Amino acid sequence: MRITVVGGGYVGLTTGVCFAHLGHEVLLVEKIPQKVELLRKGRCPIYEPGLEELMKESLKEGRLLFTTDLREGVEFSELIFICVGTPQKADGSADLSQVEEVARETAKFMTSYRLLVEKSTVPINTHKLIKKTVERYLKDKGIPFDVASNPEFLREGSAVEDFLKPDRIVVGVESQRARRIFEELYMGFSCPVLFTDPATAELIKHASNSFLAMKISFINMVADLCERAGADVNLVAEGMGYDRRIGREFLNAGIGYGGSCFPKDVKAFIRMAQDYGLDFAILREVDRVNQGRPARFVEKVKDVLWSLKNKKLAIWGLSFKPNTDDIREAPSIRIVDILLKEGAELSLYDPKAMENFRMLFPEGKGISYAKDLYSAVEGACALLVLTEWEEFRRADLKKVKDLMELPIILDGRNIYERPAVESLGFEYYGVGR
Ligand SMILES: NC(=O)c1ccc[n+]([C@@H]2O[C@H](COP(=O)([O-])OP(=O)(O)OC[C@H]3O[C@@H](n4cnc5c(N)ncnc54)[C@H](O)[C@@H]3O)[C@@H](O)[C@H]2O)c1
Repeated sequence: MRITVVGGGYVGLTTGVCFAHLGHEVLLVEKIPQKVELLRKGRCPIYEPGLEELMKESLKEGRLLFTTDLREGVEFSELIFICVGTPQKADGSADLSQVEEVARETAKFMTSYRLLVEKSTVPINTHKLIKKTVERYLKDKGIPFDVASNPEFLREGSAVEDFLKPDRIVVGVESQRARRIFEELYMGFSCPVLFTDPATAELIKHASNSFLAMKISFINMVADLCERAGADVNLVAEGMGYDRRIGREFLNAGIGYGGSCFPKDVKAFIRMAQDYGLDFAILREVDRVNQGRPARFVEKVKDVLWSLKNKKLAIWGLSFKPNTDDIREAPSIRIVDILLKEGAELSLYDPKAMENFRMLFPEGKGISYAKDLYSAVEGACALLVLTEWEEFRRADLKKVKDLMELPIILDGRNIYERPAVESLGFEYYGVGR
C-alpha cells in the first residue's frame, strides 16, 4: 500500500520505517528541514534500537521517502497517518494545534478520497474536530473523506519491536470503506485487531496509559510503606505479580514515571473527565504521588549525606527510561535541579542522553559530564542511579568502589541486590527496601 506519515518524531518515524519494512511505500512528511536532510542521508535524529538499520534498508530499496511538503504527502496516498506532537498546555489539557494544522492543510490539498488517521494521542472526540475542520477547509468541494483513530502503544526503547509485534491494534472507524483499508493494512499482524468507533479508540489509549501510570504510583506508595515497615517492595511486587490478574510489569518502585506520554496523558485524561463533568480523583492522586518522587529521593540523599554543599555526587542515568535518548519529563531533571540548589557538584553520565541533557544543563556551575560510567564516580561521595540501563547492572562495582571517595549507592531504580553490593563494602539505599 502507499502510506503517508505526517510527523517524523518517535512515533512517526517508527510508523513510517516499520510500514516500509513491511513492504509498503511510505512518504514521511516532517516540517523541520534539518531533520529531513538527516533522514534522507539515512541518519536517525533520535536514538531508538534497530530503527536506523531498518530505515537504511528501506531507503536503499526505495520504499521510504522524506519531504517537508505536506502537499506531496496528501497527493502521495489516500491513507494519511497523523503522528505530530500533542504536548501539554499549562492547564493540563492537550495542545492540539499541530493536529489542527495538519487537518486544515490536508483539506486544502485534497482532490479525492482521503483517510486521515489519528496516531497521535488525542482527547476523546478529537476526530469530530478534525472532521469539522476538514469539512470547513474543503469548502463544499464535496470530496469524500474519513477520519479514524488508530492509537499507538509503542514504548520508546523498544519502539520497533512494539510496532511490529504489538499486543493489540485498536482501530476506531465510522465507515466500511475506512475499515476495509485497515483490514488490508493489518492483515499480516497476528495480534487481535479491535475495531471500535473513534471515540472508544481514543479513550482506550488514555485509559491504558493512565492505568499503567496508576500501577507505578501504586507500587511507589507501597514502597514508602515498605520503607517504614521494614519490608522489601521488590518481593512484594514479585508476590503480587504472580497473580495473573495483576501481572508483574509496571510494578517497579523508584523515582517515578517520566517521558513524553505518561505525565501528560494522565493530566489530559483528568482534564477530559472534568470537561465531561467527572472528577477522576484516582488519577489526580496518581499524578500527585508521581510528582513527589524526585524530591523524596533527594530527601533520602540528604538523610544519608547530611549537607550536600560542595559534595561531589555521581549520577548514572538521565533518560526517562533505558534504551532511549529522550529526557522529556525525566525525573533526573527535577533531581539534578534540586541537587544543584543544595550546592552539590554533579558528575553526570548516560549512555545516550547526555547530548539532550546538556541543552538543559550546560557544563559548568556544578555540572560536569563524564566520558564513561567509571570516570563519573571518581572522587564521588555517593553514586545515584536514576535510570535502569543494562550497562549499570553489568558495571564492575569493585572498580567503582575503588574510584569513589565514599562507597555509597543510592539506587533510584532498585537495580542492585543489597547483599551483593554490601558484600563489596558499599552502603546501599534502594527504594522501598
Ligand atoms: N513517544 C512515545 O513513546 C509515544 C507513544 C505513543 C503515542 N505517542 C503520541 O504520539 C504523538 C507523537 O509523539 P512523538 O513522541 O513522536 O512526538 P515528537 O515531538 O517526537 O514528534 C512530532 C514530530 O512532528 C513534527 N511535526 C509537527 N507538526 C508537523 C506538521 N505540520 N507537518 C509535519 N511534521 C510536523 C515535529 O517537527 C516533530 O518532529 C503524541 O501525541 C504522543 O503523545 C507517543
